[in-house]
Amino acid sequence: MEFIGLYPTWFEPSLGSGWVVGIIATAHVLFSHTSVGAAIFFAFLATLAYQRNRPELLTFVKQYGLFLLVFAYVAGSITGVGIWYSTTVASPRGISALIHSFVWKWATEWVFFVIEVVGVYLVVYLVGKVDPRTHLRVTWIFALSSLATMLIIIGILSFMLWPGKEIWFDEGGYLNGFYGPNTFAQLAMRMAFMLTMTAVVGGVVASRIQDLALRREITRMLAWLGIVSAVVGTALFSWYTSTLPEHAHLVMQARLPDWFSISLIAVLGGIIVYFIATLLVPRMLTPAVAGVATVAILVFGLWPEEVARESIRKPFVAGEYLYSNQVIARDVPGMGIRSEIPVIQEHGLLKTHVFLPEGLREVAPDNAAQVGHAIALSMCSNCHSVTDTGMRPIRNYLGGSTDVARIKTYLLGALATGNTLYMPQIPMTDDEAEALAVFLASLNDPELPLRYAQERAGIARSDDAATTSKE
Ligand code: HEC
Repeated sequence: MEFIGLYPTWFEPSLGSGWVVGIIATAHVLFSHTSVGAAIFFAFLATLAYQRNRPELLTFVKQYGLFLLVFAYVAGSITGVGIWYSTTVASPRGISALIHSFVWKWATEWVFFVIEVVGVYLVVYLVGKVDPRTHLRVTWIFALSSLATMLIIIGILSFMLWPGKEIWFDEGGYLNGFYGPNTFAQLAMRMAFMLTMTAVVGGVVASRIQDLALRREITRMLAWLGIVSAVVGTALFSWYTSTLPEHAHLVMQARLPDWFSISLIAVLGGIIVYFIATLLVPRMLTPAVAGVATVAILVFGLWPEEVARESIRKPFVAGEYLYSNQVIARDVPGMGIRSEIPVIQEHGLLKTHVFLPEGLREVAPDNAAQVGHAIALSMCSNCHSVTDTGMRPIRNYLGGSTDVARIKTYLLGALATGNTLYMPQIPMTDDEAEALAVFLASLNDPELPLRYAQERAGIARSDDAATTSKE
């Protein structure tokens, strides 16, 4: 018997595993983007400081650098490791797919990351302690290695959405997977917005500068940085969406709520208004105002952005071949990968999934709901929470239905055939669909499994009676 390569499912009851990853990742985007943006801003400020002999600008670099050490580097490293931990349990094959394609890219990224972390210490502590040329060089090395980490990660992020070139499926080759039409558009857009984040977070430090004239000057500088980068980023956003695959556009139309583009415009408009205000009245900028602006960017800008990025690659989690529920969806000859769909179609999930309690491999009236629960955990819970809270609670999508037959028809008609836009094809035997339907119906009617078992047992008995009397 052939088995499929699913791992045990990590079930997180209150948020859903997807949201745990999402929350950690969103925080990480804020920390990492701010630190890369700041590195470039520091290089600019240091160059200005040494050319025009303005040591007070270096004082600001030092203060902002110290702040970033905690804000971006400590918290960024912790959330970075958090992404590895959470994705390894939530999406083990997703992370495995990326490692198999990009292990050396990642190793390279870590080299630059080490330079970056050492660099930020050097930039902060060497101000005034070494000659200007050396310090300026260190600042530029820091900026360029920060940017390099970004460049490398973007290739991997765009691969998750869409392997760079179609030929990758047949031939493999990491450059084929890495560079695609989406890579540079995404890099450019993120570079613009990371400078916006640098300007927003920088306000927390700038607003505490003692020297009034310097505070005003830096506040204005940050405001210009924020305005220009937000406007450029918005323009680049249209470039970015134009490079997305057609499927992503369909999903966006079907899935993203109507308010999504309105809220996007509101957030960008809000940022620009905020910076125009601090440009005109720099003393408006206080640590509290800057802190609120930072949280607002996180909640209203980055969270929806991450949710959208996650949505548009549905039903895949990586490389357009691995479904979010960890099943391999297609052959990838270039990587020696075979689709698992035919195996499931032939033998069913219960017979081919290794990590399933033995008592649940056959469907019977009294274990149907339990079997259905197990199927839902491994096939649906990556995208739908199976409790009442968290990510897309599955119960909300059933229209309150408790009709086992109807739900089963839907499962066999839409999911088993792959006839949906954003969900994987989930082949099911008739028994499996029945079991899953009993479980789904029980979400709206907890007594149902008991009645179902009794009714079925009754039917089985009367069938027996019918056969006996015929004999
Ligand atoms: C790849 C992620 C993913 C997986 C896995 C997944 N779904 Fe969905 N499902 C979605 C999305 C996205 C929607 C649409 C949500 C929306 O429009 O808000 C959806 C919608 C639905 C709907 C509403 C009908 C529809 O077509 O919009 C039902 C019912 C449903 N899912 C059941 C299931 C069941 C049962 C499973 C497991 C056997 C499952 N889903 C697995 C992502 C997924």
